[in-house]
Amino acid sequence: MAVEVVPQTQAIGAEVRGVDLSKEISQEEFEQIRQAFYRHSVIVVRDHAFDDEDHIRFSSRFGELKRLKFNDFIGKGRPEIFIVSNVKENDKYIGSHDAGMFWHSDGPFLKHPHGPAALHALEVPMHDGRALGDTRFASTAAAYDALSDSMKQQLDGLLAVHSLKQRYEKAVKEGGVADSSTMNQAATQETEAVHPLVRVHPHNGRKCLYVSEGYTTRILGMPLEQSRELIDELTAHIIKPQFVYTHSWRAHDLVMWDNCSTQHKATFDYEPQQRRLMHRTTLLNS
Ligand code: OGA
Ligand code: MN
Repeated sequence: MAVEVVPQTQAIGAEVRGVDLSKEISQEEFEQIRQAFYRHSVIVVRDHAFDDEDHIRFSSRFGELKRLKFNDFIGKGRPEIFIVSNVKENDKYIGSHDAGMFWHSDGPFLKHPHGPAALHALEVPMHDGRALGDTRFASTAAAYDALSDSMKQQLDGLLAVHSLKQRYEKAVKEGGVADSSTMNQAATQETEAVHPLVRVHPHNGRKCLYVSEGYTTRILGMPLEQSRELIDELTAHIIKPQFVYTHSWRAHDLVMWDNCSTQHKATFDYEPQQRRLMHRTTLLNS
């Protein structure tokens, strides 16, 4: 089968056609997909069924997968599978039910933030034949490129603090309740890290803004108020429509995103009784 790459917007997102993830793909096919991924930052593969084994096999070709330590949201005996879901069994959420409440990339509060993640849709809430629960993705690389030269100069060399606690406190304040995986992590794991405000992408050399509504608390060496203003200005810039791809889910979709050159946000526009079930794998390194 010939691999076909269909860009979804100018800045971000491409659908990859002509691959069947339920089978082992060739090195040549994988290389084309890998190139499409680092070029478009988000890739979408749709229209055929595959299982957790296929999901793990495909995503692990990009590098080593994260193995989860907490038992609650692990997919049936596979520590590589993290469940994202609003489904409850015996009154308990079976997955992370509030992932993506705020614009964020995954794991910036870690010394080594997550690499790419691949989300596989098993159940998608619907209304009148239309899918609900879209995920939006913004290109932090295209957003950087569009900054003025003086802003680029101002950002050069700055460091920012990212905190899991801020995400947790924001969720509680805004009426959502942070899920137990967040709380477990907040209680026992690394919760704060410092990273350059502009990251250079290890695979394509592009400069990416690394600052998010969800996790960034302050910029080092700057008065708090000024730091807050700059964070707000940059996070609003990143999510301008020209940098955003909105994914409308269908069951069996696999969407893989780069956590250096993108941010994402979920849309909570469905009712609690409508089931949404996703399985995610996460790469350890960019
Ligand atoms: C995630 C996430 C958003 C969504 O899995 O990291 O933020 O729409 N998901 O499920
Ligand atoms: Mn996420």
